[in-house]
Amino acid sequence: MSRSHRWSLYVALLLILTLLLAACAQPATPAPAKKLEIFSWWTAGGEAEGLEAMFTVYRQKYPGVEIINAAVAGGAGAQAKAVLKTRMLGGDPPDSFQVHGGAELIDTWVKTGYMEDITDLWKSEGWMDKFPKQLIDLVSHEGKIYSVPVNVHRGNVLWYNKKIFDQYGLQPPTTFDEFFQVAEALKAKGVTPLALGDKLKWEAAHLFETVLAGVLGAEKYRGLWTGQTPWTGPEVAKAFEIFGRMLDYVNEDHAAHTWDSATQLVLDGKAAMTIMGDWSHGYFLSKGAKPGVDYGWVPAPNNKGLFMVVTDTFGLPKKAPHREQAIAWLKVCGSKEGQEAFNPKKGSICARLDCDRSKFDVYLQSSMDDFARDQLIPSEVHGSAAPEGFATAFNDIIFNFVTSRDAKAAMEALQKACVENKMCK
Ligand code: GAL
Repeated sequence: MSRSHRWSLYVALLLILTLLLAACAQPATPAPAKKLEIFSWWTAGGEAEGLEAMFTVYRQKYPGVEIINAAVAGGAGAQAKAVLKTRMLGGDPPDSFQVHGGAELIDTWVKTGYMEDITDLWKSEGWMDKFPKQLIDLVSHEGKIYSVPVNVHRGNVLWYNKKIFDQYGLQPPTTFDEFFQVAEALKAKGVTPLALGDKLKWEAAHLFETVLAGVLGAEKYRGLWTGQTPWTGPEVAKAFEIFGRMLDYVNEDHAAHTWDSATQLVLDGKAAMTIMGDWSHGYFLSKGAKPGVDYGWVPAPNNKGLFMVVTDTFGLPKKAPHREQAIAWLKVCGSKEGQEAFNPKKGSICARLDCDRSKFDVYLQSSMDDFARDQLIPSEVHGSAAPEGFATAFNDIIFNFVTSRDAKAAMEALQKACVENKMCK
């Protein structure tokens, strides 16, 4: 081999080596990241911790998936629902979203064709006999299932500051009469009797629906959502009278508070009671308060034997960008492990029937007993009882009543909304 040939060979070898080194130095094309975007309104104390606990179970089971927490703050979805609507209608759905079982799921999203039928998932996961039939019915339409309930919250609970009640030798009220006696006694001591935070409107409507249930009882209360019980009748008038009297005992700055800051008022001893769903229990726990020591609970006045059901569920929107990861999320939502991680923090009981009771605290065990024994009634404010159009009108009408105190106008407006939304004739 001539000298020049040898040189050419060296140069060629050097070139190949350089190219090889350069190729090795190039980072390998990264595999497309697996993602999961979950939409909810769980940002308050108890809510955020519960959601995170379910994410932890997901991460253990499906490592390598990046979870995008797309929560929009604002209790009861007061702000989130509008954001969700814009996204869904704009063809930009999250992979899965929080939605109440009942009308909120079925009327808003199923009948309009936005959700996938997940009946096969229910069957393949063996869930059909693991959930109460009432809950399956709430997430079904024409024999098909559209979401997975993760919990059962109770809407009609009165929470009270134990130290205040002990200090003044008071018993938690179980009837409307007792409520007003206790409220008077507290007022005389200079303590705000009832904490309310109706900054987002729904919180006042929430209080009112517990009063409706307490005055009407299960059957007539159910009749409100089917047109059987008129909104202009004497029972609803009575409910407005009681509700108006209750409002005389709330904190003056109620319009500046939300459900969670109102719950905090009770924890701080700045108010003695609040009437709210048991997400308040989740809130108390997140602040390190002890059930039965720092705070106690009874059913809302006159609500003994009635369990107002609020169930959070997750479904699969059509065109979910990460469908495979979304199905895996639904599997976690429906699993015993997922529900046992989520609910003790969230302040709710499992939607499943086979959760381990010993993983739940004294309040939640009492809620399990009541759920099994009580009459189950739907919540309107939390999506189960009536279509969205009525729910929005209801919140507005009750919120206006808080300042106007005009029961006649409120009742007529409710009847009109009932007709407009095809619930009443
Ligand atoms: C409800 C929801 C609960 C709780 C509450 C306050 O509508 O079902 O999970 O989060 O709102 O935000």
